[in-house]
Amino acid sequence: MHIRPAKSDEGAVCDELLTRLIQTERQWEPNLNEDFIVTNNYAYRLAEDGTLLLVAEENSEVVGFLFGFLSPSPVLKRPTALLDALFVCKEHRSKGIGKALALRFREWVKEQGVYAIELKVMSQNTTALRLYESLGFSEAKKYMQCNL
Ligand SMILES: CC(C)(COP(=O)(O)OP(=O)(O)OC[C@H]1O[C@@H](n2cnc3c(N)ncnc32)[C@H](O)[C@@H]1OP(=O)(O)O)[C@@H](O)C(=O)NCCC(=O)NCCS
Repeated sequence: MHIRPAKSDEGAVCDELLTRLIQTERQWEPNLNEDFIVTNNYAYRLAEDGTLLLVAEENSEVVGFLFGFLSPSPVLKRPTALLDALFVCKEHRSKGIGKALALRFREWVKEQGVYAIELKVMSQNTTALRLYESLGFSEAKKYMQCNL
């Protein structure tokens, strides 16, 4: 397994994996639209400053990705970073790929002088919670929702 920044022509494959991530999250959030297909997203995002799109490659196939970006603010002494999306294809899970992607992102943000990495994760997503906790993430804020 090889972790590397996505190439400029790999936006579409990451869009497809983001679509699958959103579909995975539908089990915990029924308001997510089952017909939604991500298109023309990462081709643009990966070209922006302060972003990192990483892919995990196995036998020349992209089997996972992570997207994150720096999130500077005048309120903050040091910038934070957002881990925005992480997905590993089902048949490649529990082999350390998710952790390797997250560690690579952490290395990159550390080099940028970032104070902390933030992320949102669904409370019922125990697998992802376990992964983040194993990397030193802990609950710092609560993101609340009131369904109407
Ligand atoms: C969450 C996800 C990225 C983990 O990827 P992965 O490659 O399987 O994870 P790893 O093999 O690197 O495992 C890392 C840690 O996750 C946890 N983990 C992995 N598989 C698990 C499982 N089946 N059950 C419980 N915890 C699990 C463990 O803590 C593991 O650490 P350990 O191996 O030291 O015990 C993957 O399950 C996934 O893509 N899920 C669907 C999308 C998603 O939920 N993304 C996160 C949105 S916030």
